[in-house]
Amino acid sequence: MSAKKDAPIKLEFSNKYTREHSQYYYEKHKRGIEPRLSHWRDVQLARKALKIAGEPKEVLDLPCGAGRFWPTLAENPSRKIIGADNSADMVAVALENCPKEIASRITAFQTSAFAIDMQDNAVDSIFSMRLMHHIGQPDHRIAMLKEFHRVTRDTVILSLWVDGNLKAYQRRKSEERHPRGANQNRFLIPAKVIEQEFVQAGFKVVNHLDFLPLYAMWRVYVLRKV
Ligand SMILES: C[S@@+](CC[C@H](N)C(=O)[O-])C[C@H]1O[C@@H](n2cnc3c(N)ncnc32)[C@H](O)[C@@H]1O
Repeated sequence: MSAKKDAPIKLEFSNKYTREHSQYYYEKHKRGIEPRLSHWRDVQLARKALKIAGEPKEVLDLPCGAGRFWPTLAENPSRKIIGADNSADMVAVALENCPKEIASRITAFQTSAFAIDMQDNAVDSIFSMRLMHHIGQPDHRIAMLKEFHRVTRDTVILSLWVDGNLKAYQRRKSEERHPRGANQNRFLIPAKVIEQEFVQAGFKVVNHLDFLPLYAMWRVYVLRKV
């Protein structure tokens, strides 16, 4: 293997999840009507996606962030939940705030989505919310998808921003007026492009679910290994 291939991929945005920011992230989804509504819809889509994926028994939640999906994942009483995140502070905040009644069913550790510290075919599904839209380079996205392909036995559930809706149109227009430059850390990926990348990494699309069809950019994909 070449040295280039071995070099771990590190994204600039990953550094922002300090202890302080992790605590802020935990509180963010509980503050105000809009974040609560958005979280409620995220949970609804997550439930549907898990059902489409066949109610996987062993799920790797990567990145788990502050663990906001753990109660949803735990709704299936026989599911084993593994939380993981690049930020050790995020993992600590998630564990500290984990509801007591589900804590015994969760194990969590620090790892990168580009080099997951698990064996091949270790879990039934990888559940990856709000990470892909931070990855602007196609080769980085393919690397992560291939790593997911190595670690899952069956499915991947992931969310990202796609085009084909009003918000994406407005974002493109605003980017034309004010180019975001090198500091940009959230990216809109055309659906056609990401769907080709899924195939390139060895997945087929089972289904997709839109946060608010034709309006919002968030889309959840359910993928299966081929
Ligand atoms: C927007 S948060 C999403 C967290 C969670 N999935 C949610 O929806 O609440 C992004 C998370 O990605 C994590 N992260 C950043 N770079 C990562 C990487 N290379 N591998 C795994 N996690 C990463 C951050 O630490 C952060 O917790």
